[in-house]
Formats: sequence, C-alpha cells, structure tokens
Amino acid sequence: MTKKPYYITTPIYYPSANLHIGNTYTTVAADALARFKRLTGYEVFFLTGTDEHGEKIQRIAEGKGVTPKEYVDEIVAGIKDLWKLMNISYDKFIRTTDSYHEKAVQKIVTQLYEQGDIYKSSYEGHYCIPCESFWTETQLVNGNCPDCGRPVEKRTEEAYFFKMSKYADRLIEYIETHPEFIQPESRKNEMLNNFLRPGLQDLCISRNSFNWGVPLEFDPGHVVYVWIDALSNYITALGYNNDVDTELYGKFWPADVHLIGKDILRFHTIYWPIMLMALNIPLPKQVFGHGWLLVDGGKMSKSKGNVVDPVVLAQHFGVDAIRYYLLREIPFGSDGLFNNEIFIKKINSDLANDLGNLLSRTVAMIEKYFEGAIPAPTAREAIDNELIGLALETPKKVEAHIDNLRIPEALAEIWTLIRRANKYIDETTPWILAKEESKKERLGTVLYNLAETLRFASVLISSFLPYTSEKINEQLNVNLTAWDSLSAFDGTESSTKVKKGEAIFPRIDVEAKLKELEALKEVKEEPKQTMQPLKEEITIDDFEKIDLRVVKVLACEPVKGAKKLLKLKVDLAGEERQVVSGIAQWYKGEDLVGKYVVLVANLKPVTLRGELSQGMILAASTDDDSKLFTVSIPGELPTGSQVR
Ligand code: MSP
Repeated sequence: MTKKPYYITTPIYYPSANLHIGNTYTTVAADALARFKRLTGYEVFFLTGTDEHGEKIQRIAEGKGVTPKEYVDEIVAGIKDLWKLMNISYDKFIRTTDSYHEKAVQKIVTQLYEQGDIYKSSYEGHYCIPCESFWTETQLVNGNCPDCGRPVEKRTEEAYFFKMSKYADRLIEYIETHPEFIQPESRKNEMLNNFLRPGLQDLCISRNSFNWGVPLEFDPGHVVYVWIDALSNYITALGYNNDVDTELYGKFWPADVHLIGKDILRFHTIYWPIMLMALNIPLPKQVFGHGWLLVDGGKMSKSKGNVVDPVVLAQHFGVDAIRYYLLREIPFGSDGLFNNEIFIKKINSDLANDLGNLLSRTVAMIEKYFEGAIPAPTAREAIDNELIGLALETPKKVEAHIDNLRIPEALAEIWTLIRRANKYIDETTPWILAKEESKKERLGTVLYNLAETLRFASVLISSFLPYTSEKINEQLNVNLTAWDSLSAFDGTESSTKVKKGEAIFPRIDVEAKLKELEALKEVKEEPKQTMQPLKEEITIDDFEKIDLRVVKVLACEPVKGAKKLLKLKVDLAGEERQVVSGIAQWYKGEDLVGKYVVLVANLKPVTLRGELSQGMILAASTDDDSKLFTVSIPGELPTGSQVR
C-alpha cells in the first residue's frame, strides 16, 4: 500500500547570528510532528533551511571583513550542528544560496513579470533593515518599525512591485471558506481585520541599494526582495522550476503545514498565498503560527543579553529534557515562558520521578525477583484492567491531539499513563507479593504489565523524546516499536532479558544548578565591562579651556544626503545656534526637541556637508556604537548655564 504523503516545513532561519532557544522551539516542534507522522504510517518530507540573502547579512559580513557567503557558510555549519545536537530528523536542508534555488526564484519572478503581475515604479518609505521591510508613515509605531520597534531609515528607491491588490479579494474568500488554513483561529482574524480588509497595498519586490541577493533576470541591477526569495523555498526544495528532484513536487505539494512563529504570519498568509495564486499553484493546507518563547523580562534579544543558548542547556540537562520542556510546557499557539527554575523542577517531577523511577523500579524488580527475565502474565486480576484499558486508549488520544497540532496535550496523555503505572505499583505492592511463593505468578503478572506499559510509553514518546525512548528500549530489551503494536497489550515477550542501566534522568539539585547557571552568566557578561583605555592625564587648566553650556533644543531635522547627521537649532541664552551632530541613527527630531543638552560652546565652527556647525553636543555611547544617549540635564536650567 502506498503511504500517504505529509509535508511539513519550518521557517528558513536567518544566518545572521547563532540560533537561540526560540528558533530551536519551532524546529523541535516540527521534528516531533514529522517523527509522529512517520511513526503512524505517512511518507514524510520535513524541510528546514536558511534564508541567507539580504542587506542585513551583507552589512554584518562587511563589518567583519568577509564576503557574505563566507559569513553565512560558517553560521550555517553551526546551525546544522545544532540540529544534529537536537536530534532533528529533517529530510532536506535548503539554503537560499543553493544555485538551483536561485535559478528557480529568477524564473518565478520573470514569469510574474511577463504575465503583468509585476511592474516598475519607485518607492518612498521607511525601511527597517533587520526586518528587511518597507513601511509607510502611518504604519510606523512611534516612528519605529511596527514589527520589531527598532528605528527605520527613510528611503526612496526605483523598484518593482507585485500587484497584491489584484488577488486580495480571492485571498479573503479563500481564508473565509477554509477555516483550517490559518491556525490558531485568532491569528486568522488578525490577518483579515488588520491587513486584508483595510485594503492591501502592492508589494515592493526588488531592491537596488545592495547586491547580496538573487538578481532579476530582466533588470540585473535589482535583487529580489528577500521574502519573495525566502518563501519560494517551500516549492523550490521540492524541485519546482528546477530539476533537482521533480518527483518530490508532484508527491508533496501542497504542504500539509508550514510551521512558523506568529511574527512572520503576515508573510505566510498574505504574500505567499498571493504569489502561489499568481503562479496558479495550490495553496498550502495550513499555516500554523505558534507563540513566542519568552524569558524572564520578555522577548529574547541579543541587546537585552537574555538569549538562551540551547547548546549550553543541552550540556547541562541533555537534549530530551529541553525537547520535553519546549513541547510540554509551552502552550502550542500562545506565548510561553522559558525559565531555568521551572525547567529544572519539571525535569525532576516528570522525567526523573514519573518516567525515570517507573523504569528503574520495574527493571530492578524484574532483576531481583525473576533474575532479569520478564515473566509471563499468567495471573491477571480485575485491578489490571484499568491500567491496560488506559494503555490501549492512549495511542488514539495522542494521535487525535497531534492531528490538531495539540502537542502539549498529547504529551499530557502519555504522562497520564505513566503516572497511572506508578500508581499501579503502589496498589499492587509487588514487594509484598514477593514475600509469598504462592503469589509468584501474580507478581510476575504485575511486572509484565509494568514492562508492557513501559513499552507503550516508549513507543508513544519516541517522536518527542527519541533518545529516551531508545534508552528505555535498551533496558527493557524491547524489539516491537511499531505504532500498530500498540493495538494489543501483549507486545512484550515473556522471558526477554532486561538490563538495568543508568538513571535516564538523574534528579537535579535545583538550588545548586541554578547557582551554577547564574555563575556561567556572570562569566559571559564580563567582557561587557571592558572600556577604552583612559586618555593622557590633563590639568584643571586644560579642562577649563572647554566651555560647556546648557542649551535647549528648538528644532531638529535630518541633513539631506547624509544618513548619519542631524541638524539641530539650539537656544544659548537667547542666541540661536546651529549644530550638526552625527546622531541620526539614534534620535529622530521629535525625540530631542525641548530637551536641555550640553554644548561645547567654544569649539571652532566648521561646515559639515554644506551645513554650518557651531559647537558640539555631548553624548555617551558604547564602544561599538550600538547604544548612544545625549548628555541631558534632568531639570530646567536657564540656557547658557555652565557645566563644570
Ligand atoms: N528568515 C525568516 C523566515 C523566512 S521563512 C520563508 C525569519 N527568520 S528568523 O530566523 O528571524 O526566525 C525564524 C523563526 O524563529 C520565526 O518563526 C520566529 O518566529 C522564530 N522565533 C524567533 N524567536 C523566537 C522566540 N523567542 N520564540 C519563538 N519563536 C521565535 O523570520
């Protein structure tokens, strides 16, 4: 019988820096689903990869003095290592720099151009480099990027546009008639109400201000907008428009599910379906936008220094403990917290106590009372039925949850069975049965039931915690691991020899471990305290030569043609002065107007980019200029007051 195909994808990650636990979350979830589908009889294609083009990567590489390709090659190698560490069973890893992908993207864009869906115009807007997105004035939030909150740059570019508006009505109708397309449900309404119904603007799909991208065939001075390039990966990886493996496309498209974070839902449920409609390709069956993994203090970000590194966690707790926490503790679809203390407590309670103890007690008793050979279940009693009944029902319940992408609920069902088995030990008290020779058969039956329940648990957890499942199989010498073997409670063969191994999840001393992790953080943060060497000593007379005065900012605007400069008008005791300052990256006009700042008032005037600058505003910044603040006076002082 031919197997049913199942195609699941993760987002392709930006190799701008090493991945953190948030990105790991998406991939681990996709891996669990892919493994589960394989286990339950599907032919699975699980795709992941990297999204390597764009201005941000080009800038980072330039900053490091390497080519963009050299830069991404190194990060991508690290990402592949991370997936290996996390035991990710992807079938293909696509890189948008793979030449088959680049050529296929060119063909896609050319087709759209030739059929009249793409036209040339010019674009004026606010550009967010990290998000690679243009925004209109009204879309900005407090003058910043509405997606990430970072400052944007004003830009005008000649560009190509995709006629999104042409397909908007069709997409609205599709979403309304396919309730399963955008999940969870709340996200569907967000897309319809916030983006589609208010009217869709045409999408700018090319850039000519940098060149790290796929050039347009019909205008090679432009590169394809990174999102068009990236989204295409879901079909080019299957061989669409290329000859890598054309059978895959026929077999696996449309995708069963694109698993993504909620932040990139708009791209996947608006731009992507419209692209596909224009290309006359069926839409993916589902786009699932999961929530954010938050750490104490909110969203993880490099600048906050609160990024959780999965490699470090794996060294301390093992891969399956991380997988368990991510899959079980984070409600799939909403935001969830990653917290070390909760994590360690969960390992102790669910993994060490519930599962670990069940295994070690069962194996120890089989060794002690039956010389390590699993006994036959020859003396069943009524009390066994509840456990056996639960074991037989659990696979169906787990499958139903996974079919609806309810991963934590699926794990909860498995743990109900594991806990029931622990309770069964307390109810049947094997150590008391062992005291009477006449109860030997009953004792054997109890231990058989426990071993068989553990075999069920092992098969059930194998998609979520693959290493743990293998360890259980080793200790119990399990051979039967197929999903179908869970339709009857008799898969364990009596007289199979068990072999006690190490505790699968040793208990962790919570306080001690937290301290250890805290110490690691301090070591890591240390380099932040380095500073530029101090300058040569001066006398008070040297210092007295500098005349520092309080001034009030009256107006402030960008200097034309100079991205970094702002032109300030300041009041110095009734005298109006103009100062040109290189702070445009950190301040917009409205941020400074009305503020009292410090001016070096006796600095010789200079002309910068054709603008007179009569003095200098004091500011403090980090060495790498990632942060900068002007020195301001926290109260009102008459302008012209001295700073001494
Ligand atoms: N390159 C684009 C995706 C293109 S897909 C055609 C991109 N890359 S990303 O590396 O920035 O993010 C990839 C995924 O990681 C996104 O789904 C994003 O939601 C997810 N996450 C990043 N930080 C996260 C958390 N803190 N928590 C959960 N997921 C997070 O976007």
